[in-house]
Amino acid sequence: MKLILLIPLIIFITGCNPGDKDNGSDSAALSGEAIYNKNCLGCHGSKGQGLAEDWKVKDANGNYPPPPLNGTAHTWHHSPEQLLYTINKGGVEMGGQMPAFEDLLSEAEKQALIDYIYDLWPKEIQTRYDEMFK
Ligand code: HEC
Repeated sequence: MKLILLIPLIIFITGCNPGDKDNGSDSAALSGEAIYNKNCLGCHGSKGQGLAEDWKVKDANGNYPPPPLNGTAHTWHHSPEQLLYTINKGGVEMGGQMPAFEDLLSEAEKQALIDYIYDLWPKEIQTRYDEMFK
């Protein structure tokens, strides 16, 4: 009898887990890469290399393209707090095009993204970043 009551409870609990379902077996650790691929890749390119030929040149609509995040642009000049701010607010405040993710991602997901972006950088940039911000 008890077991019969437990089964729907278990289904209820696991069914309510808001974690992303396409994350497969390693759902315990938030995968920054999976979150990135789902939310950011479309604009910033796989592995953060950017999509535009030159991110410093405005496009036909007068907007700057999404810059690379992989260490070749100036993402690594910004502290983790500033990166979080950009993820939260997007670029609108600065007249930019990036959407705000404040209400779309959890704090843990945003942190996993910042860690993932850091992982995209070459070793020497990570070292310089650590010297500046860690
Ligand atoms: C619709 C396209 C778009 C999406 C989706 C997008 N971005 Fe952006 N991002 C931009 C643009 C364009 C800029 C340049 C500033 C602006 O115009 O808003 C930018 C700027 C940034 C910057 C500042 C880079 C720098 O060198 O200063 C960071 C960090 C960033 N994006 C991270 C992310 C992350 C993380 C995600 C996913 C959660 C994401 N972006 C999703 C378009 C996008």
